[in-house]
Amino acid sequence: MLRMLGFVALAVVVLHVLASPTQSPLTSDDTGAQWTTFPRPITRVAVIGAGPAGLQAAAHLLASGFSVRLFERAPSPGGNWFYTEATPVRESYPDNDNPKIFPDHFPATYYYSEGDDGISLDERWREHWQPRPVWHDLVTNGPPAATELPGVKYPANTPWTIPVHDVQRLVRSYASLHGLNTNDPPRPPSTSAITSYATRVERVIKCNATSTWRLTLRRLQFLAESNRIQEDFWEEKFDAVVVATGMHTTPHVPTIEGIEDWSKAMLKGEWSMYHSQSYRHPERYSGKTVLIVGASVSATDIARRISPVVHRLIVSIRQNPIRDAYGLDILLSWPANAELVPEIAAFQLLSRHDAGINDGRIRLANGTVLQGVDEVLLATGYRANTFLPELVNPATMNNLHWTGHYIHDPTLAFATAAPWTYGRYQSTAFAKVWAGTARLPSRARMWEDYISGKYQFGGAVDIFAQQAMGRQYVAWLNSESLELGGQFVEPLPVEDREVYVYFLSEHYKKNWFTHENFTRFDELPASEWPKPGPGGNYRTNVDW
Ligand SMILES: Cc1cc2nc3c(=O)[nH]c(=O)nc-3n(C[C@H](O)[C@H](O)[C@H](O)COP(=O)(O)OP(=O)(O)OC[C@H]3O[C@@H](n4cnc5c(N)ncnc54)[C@H](O)[C@@H]3O)c2cc1C
Ligand SMILES: NC(=O)c1ccc[n+]([C@@H]2O[C@H](COP(=O)([O-])OP(=O)(O)OC[C@H]3O[C@@H](n4cnc5c(N)ncnc54)[C@H](OP(=O)(O)O)[C@@H]3O)[C@@H](O)[C@H]2O)c1
Ligand SMILES: *[C@@H]1O[C@H](CO)[C@@H](O)[C@H](O)[C@H]1NC(C)=O
Ligand SMILES: *[C@@H]1O[C@H](CO)[C@@H](O)[C@H](O)[C@H]1NC(C)=O
Ligand SMILES: *[C@@H]1O[C@H](CO)[C@@H](O)[C@H](O)[C@H]1NC(C)=O
Repeated sequence: MLRMLGFVALAVVVLHVLASPTQSPLTSDDTGAQWTTFPRPITRVAVIGAGPAGLQAAAHLLASGFSVRLFERAPSPGGNWFYTEATPVRESYPDNDNPKIFPDHFPATYYYSEGDDGISLDERWREHWQPRPVWHDLVTNGPPAATELPGVKYPANTPWTIPVHDVQRLVRSYASLHGLNTNDPPRPPSTSAITSYATRVERVIKCNATSTWRLTLRRLQFLAESNRIQEDFWEEKFDAVVVATGMHTTPHVPTIEGIEDWSKAMLKGEWSMYHSQSYRHPERYSGKTVLIVGASVSATDIARRISPVVHRLIVSIRQNPIRDAYGLDILLSWPANAELVPEIAAFQLLSRHDAGINDGRIRLANGTVLQGVDEVLLATGYRANTFLPELVNPATMNNLHWTGHYIHDPTLAFATAAPWTYGRYQSTAFAKVWAGTARLPSRARMWEDYISGKYQFGGAVDIFAQQAMGRQYVAWLNSESLELGGQFVEPLPVEDREVYVYFLSEHYKKNWFTHENFTRFDELPASEWPKPGPGGNYRTNVDW
């Protein structure tokens, strides 16, 4: 549901269109067998990320008897929904990732005091775990059925659009239910810990000789008694890896003339320009002139939040033919006092950086110059920041089977199911495939399906895609269980559809979606499922 607003996906489309069979070669070990086989049994699995997707993956793998390690850079579970007042460290202008520095042997331990390397302990800590890009008054923008998890419930009085804090509690409850919360002890018969929080996966390397994945791990701990941070580096090996790192960890800063100069401007110790990841409360904007850059969900939601308190609200939007063709503006509503202006051509150089930007001049694409802006808020989305260095070929990285398995090497899998309620099926599939009770087609077949777009569970307006994916999963998993053993999965409750219909009608457009849209789709064979339009493609939470 939410991915219908995920314009990030559009970038992936272009890559896919460019991909040709020669860019996605058949692997040499494809022997013409009907099914994919693994060189050795899979027993140890790493899950990276303790958001809704990673927690579900870990829970299903544990229930299937795998030896699981769950690594999460944040100090607590929740993923994107772990709200804190703490904000992320400053984004880089322009987009840039700090090079990773590794010790020359493992394990290795280092200690840091306040001010070491010119940064505070607090900044070192926040750089490590990256506080989330969610704000205090954020609520879900989809029906409740899109943000639920099996076995845990929202309290009866939870509002219809669910506050971030309630989602946070629900995800944490799910973690506790499965013994995956911080400080949960190991579960017998295992004697070692399952989870490792405040632990960032820095590198994932496939060792061909042993068919194992080697993870380089880095954990920070705050030592209160000596007021220091302890940093531990170590490595662990696994037979398979689930990447569930979400889509919103690294902010994207647009390339606009003068933006680096403006990024240095401060007023009374606060940056005058920053990414929406650091937005928390509307009060800061009281009486100010604010310029928001961007035209998607963060931009519109923040605009609505701050609109009652600002002096003036300006929103700069670039033209986007795909977005405009879809008429997605029906899903995005601006507050009445928002002045929509064209794309920014340049931020003209400031004379100093310690007096804010109110005197600065912003030239728009149509030649008009804006002045008197107090704050610029970049709601310009997110980008990939990967720890799979030797695997990444930006042109072909999106080579995932519809189940999320990386076709080049299906001992690596990505959590791609959106909305995250569908993660229950994807997680079941990870566990069953690696346990041998569900089969993936041969790699040659997976490449054929991939290239021909056979399972295109995507599309800008993608409730049908979700329905198709759900049906595909239930049919495949259950027929595999019938043949090879394992539990059966149930379809999502049909009552959810009422909720979707009502929600879309109330929040987006009347009668746009009715119950008949679902029931008609139920009758369709897979060959007649709607093909995605120009915005559609494989849905993926991985924006490589
Ligand atoms: C402002 C905002 C509002 C949103 N609103 C909605 C909504 O209303 N409804 C909805 O369905 N979706 C919404 N989303 C999308 C949201 O991403 C999903 O709801 C959901 O959180 C995705 O779950 P996930 O587990 O795939 O990823 P995440 O929840 O993002 O979790 C990924 C986890 O991986 C961890 N991680 C990343 N890299 C590493 C590493 N190298 N090592 C260790 N750990 C790592 C992260 O710390 C994080 O905890 C919103 C997103 C944003 C930014
Ligand atoms: N629950 C909620 O209410 C809520 C609130 C916020 C976010 N979310 C979710 O969070 C996710 C991220 O949303 P997001 O809005 O942060 O990111 P996003 O959907 O990626 O949108 C980024 C916006 O920035 C614009 N942009 C990027 N580069 C630009 C440039 N160089 N110049 C001008 N504009 C530029 C994009 O323009 P184009 O449109 O031209 O690409 C787009 O409008 C989505 O999944 C969304 O559903 C949910
Ligand atoms: C492992 O095998 C792949 C595919 O054959 C190859 O591209 C890669 O370089 C190998 N990696 C190492 C570390 O030898
Ligand atoms: C340029 O955009 C601004 C802001 O929307 C508007 O006020 C102005 O009239 C536009 N100028 C031209 C020449 O279209
Ligand atoms: C739902 O069905 C109606 C009637 O066929 C159709 O006009 C409408 O476009 C459908 N809605 C969506 C979102 O596909």
